[in-house]
Amino acid sequence: MKKSFILILLLLPLFFYSFILPRPTRVISTPGSAVDSSINLLAVYGEYIFGRQGCIRCHVLVENTVPGKISLDGLGGKYTNDWHYMHLNEPSMMVPDSRMPSYELLSKRDISFQKLIQLYQQNSGDLVTDSSAIRRQLSDSMQNIINKFYLPDSKKEALATKEIMPLIYWLQQIKPSPAKKISDSIRIESANRQYANKLYLWKKWMNDHKSEFYQTANSRQKKILEKGARLFQRYCTTCHNKQAQGLIGPNLTDVYWLNGNRIEDLANTIRFGHNAMPAWELVLSPEDISQLIAYIRSLKGSNPANAKVPQGVILSD
Ligand code: HEC
Ligand code: HEC
Repeated sequence: MKKSFILILLLLPLFFYSFILPRPTRVISTPGSAVDSSINLLAVYGEYIFGRQGCIRCHVLVENTVPGKISLDGLGGKYTNDWHYMHLNEPSMMVPDSRMPSYELLSKRDISFQKLIQLYQQNSGDLVTDSSAIRRQLSDSMQNIINKFYLPDSKKEALATKEIMPLIYWLQQIKPSPAKKISDSIRIESANRQYANKLYLWKKWMNDHKSEFYQTANSRQKKILEKGARLFQRYCTTCHNKQAQGLIGPNLTDVYWLNGNRIEDLANTIRFGHNAMPAWELVLSPEDISQLIAYIRSLKGSNPANAKVPQGVILSD
């Protein structure tokens, strides 16, 4: 009886310490200890830079909340990491006449560990006494995002400690708000409807050889050929060459054709593309395409110098 009483007396302080005294905040002290993985260090730091740089002067994060401000709602995944990198360094390189200021500075400035640890403590309630686990976690997540850039390796290495990286990482996490999801689905629906209308018109033109489309494509009028030539110089010469004599794509001035030479064949190749030939339906209007066809047809027998070897089969008109 006496023995157990002494035992209880001995254990009492321990009991008191572990249940009654307030518990100290969790302390990260051993080098091997883990960082609270629910806290995304890069995102937390990225959000901090967004605030510190005053991006919010011109931007909102939820669509349609402040008129005149540019919404970044649902931005994540809209562009590549490299796009953001270029845009933040030199906005006008990615958006002609952009009014956004350059944030070149962020590619030069190192991430502040002191700030990062402060942000971590605020978010987790943990007290950090040893920052090595945080450093390790940061460099691991940094490696992950750096691998998603197409920049040359030397450039990536130089950026691995810079503030621009967590900012880009955070921008890529901005998910669409419910309102944005609805407005996107309405936009997609109306785009689909427009496309269905367009398909209907194409069908109508293709079935009617007296349609405006056919008349233009068949035309030899100087004005139409000039318009076609201008479009050709703008969009087609990288592959078909200046006089359409062929380069990556075939010579369009000879009698050899891979995909047919009737107006509907040319229209289909240009609209939908074929092999390495890109589709132009979403870039060019039907009017553009009919002018291009007229121009291509007018080149028959023009015998340009350095013509590419014939491809396809001989087709007379
Ligand atoms: C003085 C106003 C201004 C400030 C400050 C500003 N931006 Fe912009 N931002 C713009 C304008 C204007 C555009 C639209 C033109 C463009 O894309 O460059 C834009 C576009 C963007 C886009 C592309 C949006 C899209 O959907 O195409 C991103 C991303 C962006 N800004 C990020 C930022 C970040 C990050 C900051 C802070 C570091 C910032 N901006 C600060 C004016 C600003
Ligand atoms: C990225 C390179 C590229 C561009 C740009 C390009 N083409 Fe082509 N084009 C090709 C290739 C490659 C082919 C051969 C396709 C195949 O293998 O059937 C081709 C085929 C064609 C044909 C069919 C030729 C045949 O023998 O049947 C036409 C017509 C044509 N292109 C017109 C155009 C027009 C008009 C433009 C500009 C609006 C254009 N192309 C832009 C690469 C290109």
